[in-house]
Amino acid sequence: RSYKIAVIPGDGIGNEVMPEGIRALEQAASLFGFTVEQKWHDFAHCDYYLKHGRMMPEDWKDQIGQPDALFFGAVGWPAKVPDHISLWQSLLLFRREYDQYVNLRPVRLMPGVPCPLAGRKPGDIDFWIVRENTEGEYSSVGGTMFPGTDREVVIQETVMTRVGVDRVLRYAFELANSRPHRHLTSATKSNGIAVTMPYWDARVEAMAKHYPDVRWDKYHIDILTAQFVLNPDRFDVVVGSNLFGDILSDLGPACTGTIGIAPSGNINPDRTGPSLFEPVHGSAPDIAGQGIANPVGQIWSAAMMLQHLGEVEAAAAIVTAIERTLAEPALRTRDLKGNADTATCGKAIADAMG
Ligand code: NAI
Ligand code: MG
Repeated sequence: RSYKIAVIPGDGIGNEVMPEGIRALEQAASLFGFTVEQKWHDFAHCDYYLKHGRMMPEDWKDQIGQPDALFFGAVGWPAKVPDHISLWQSLLLFRREYDQYVNLRPVRLMPGVPCPLAGRKPGDIDFWIVRENTEGEYSSVGGTMFPGTDREVVIQETVMTRVGVDRVLRYAFELANSRPHRHLTSATKSNGIAVTMPYWDARVEAMAKHYPDVRWDKYHIDILTAQFVLNPDRFDVVVGSNLFGDILSDLGPACTGTIGIAPSGNINPDRTGPSLFEPVHGSAPDIAGQGIANPVGQIWSAAMMLQHLGEVEAAAAIVTAIERTLAEPALRTRDLKGNADTATCGKAIADAMG
């Protein structure tokens, strides 16, 4: 087996954690008998913008070609380029162009990571958040009337399509069906948002009929955020619209500790284009260049990428190696109160794989 990976480190600590993600990937390849063909891309970072006036070359799609996946670091450097330009002209373009309609994030309490919630130990919290990534509340339908006057009116519509809602729900139910607890929770607000959210609920109910083994429930988003903090142990797979999923997918990882370890996938389950895997964190200008960034988010993203490519055992081996390494205080980075540098932590994880 051989996989083509487009590697895009981006800005700041993206350049420091990416080599550790690659190290884990290469170790997994040699242990599990597949090869990884890497093509590194020197665009989608702010220095590229300063030189060329845009984040990516006009023919970026041709340059990327048809990889099996994109492996991304982080983009953004507000002192050089405003965030709305740097992110919209790179990451958000990938999501749209490659129809990555699922944003997937694990919420899992790891050893060695102080949990902000009292009394939880590793193993207690272990679930996935599935966010709709292409429509919903983040639409461009709307506008401003009578701007700057007393009659000013601002409108932005939520767009839900049957295809768009059903495809993300199908993904979430499939994921729930593949897990031991077979439990799905849907985020809604049909008591307040009286058209789109009842529609979402109805599609959940219709989809659930195809998955008789999956137990499912729904919570209004307000009480659901409270439940994330009070009873995170009760969730298995949580699915939400673009806005609700966005909120939950920051809250979930925050409930299990540091931003330095959280991974994510922007996934096109139909495989009409490549999916993109990246740590949740950004370029961290405050610590960039010091070699102290936590590489776990990038390495865990490599595991998610391998899972997506069908290398299930290799993916599990990386996650186990992360857990073993984080259990050792001396191998943790500064954000976890250790003093290991990025490479020391990354090497330890690769070594722990065998
Ligand atoms: P950030 O995630 O870069 O940093 C927030 C805080 O967490 C900082 O104190 C940073 O030092 C710390 N941190 C982040 N990752 C860490 C790691 N691996 N190890 C140790 N500490 C870590 O968020 P911030 O500062 O709001 O954004 C900086 C830039 O990154 C902005 O341009 C922003 O737009 C961009 N960004 C890009 C994302 C992406 O590429 N997907 C996601 C989030 C932000
Ligand atoms: Mg967010």
